[in-house]
Amino acid sequence: MTNIILLGPPGAGKGTQARKLVEERGMVQLSTGDMLREAKTSGTEMGKRVAEVMDRGQLVTDEIVNGLIEEKLKTAGGNGFIFDGFPRTLPQADALGKLLAKIGSKLDAVIEMRVDDEALVRRITGRFTCGNCGEVYHDETKPTKVPGTCDVCGSHDLKRRADDNEDSLKTRLMEYYKKTSPLIGYYYATGDLFTVDGLAEIDDVARQMSAILDQQAS
Ligand code: AP5
Repeated sequence: MTNIILLGPPGAGKGTQARKLVEERGMVQLSTGDMLREAKTSGTEMGKRVAEVMDRGQLVTDEIVNGLIEEKLKTAGGNGFIFDGFPRTLPQADALGKLLAKIGSKLDAVIEMRVDDEALVRRITGRFTCGNCGEVYHDETKPTKVPGTCDVCGSHDLKRRADDNEDSLKTRLMEYYKKTSPLIGYYYATGDLFTVDGLAEIDDVARQMSAILDQQAS
């Protein structure tokens, strides 16, 4: 069982690679972004507050996201966890270490996905996802085979995220550089950091990740 963090700026390809690892290795994807988008649609007061913060591109409080992860770790099982978009701050990184220890587990690798800002803007502004199965597409690099129809489940419910616009993206990038990128130094110091070239093609990035996972498992 291998537990990994996918660390990278918005649009680095964390969700895309996490879905491949789930399919190929039976790992469990824990995406705080997906959990918060679910909370947004709940209609609760907390959901409304989360929606405002996310749509502006800012980070939700550590308390809320740590609580979401704690709940999932209690119930989810599988061949290791993929933390996608979590941790995003140093207090979240500390909380994750403690939560894993509590369930008798530990972190095996932190994979930094390196992509330059220019490519991130192109990726975010061209992204759309299937509202039914969550498959991630892109207008240019990964269009659906049949326009308007999801390749995986056949749904026509293809949508764009409310925070995938240039204004929110600027804030999301600032939040990343201010609050999340210090985690690269933190995990380098703990000896858990690996880096992949996130600018490579999707299958090539997946191969780089597999090599790291195989090395950690051996
Ligand atoms: P979240 O949902 O985590 O968004 P994000 O980190 O901004 O990352 P994205 O989902 O935008 O990108 P990705 O790296 O998954 O890229 P993808 O694979 O889709 O968070 C959203 C918000 O929730 C945050 O702003 C914050 O408000 C809140 N939040 C979440 N977690 C939080 C936390 N821990 N603490 C506090 N707040 C939190 O790929 C992007 C596009 O590129 C797709 O179109 C894809 O097809 C394409 N693509 C992917 N890989 C490649 C490739 N190799 N080559 C070409 N195209 C590619």
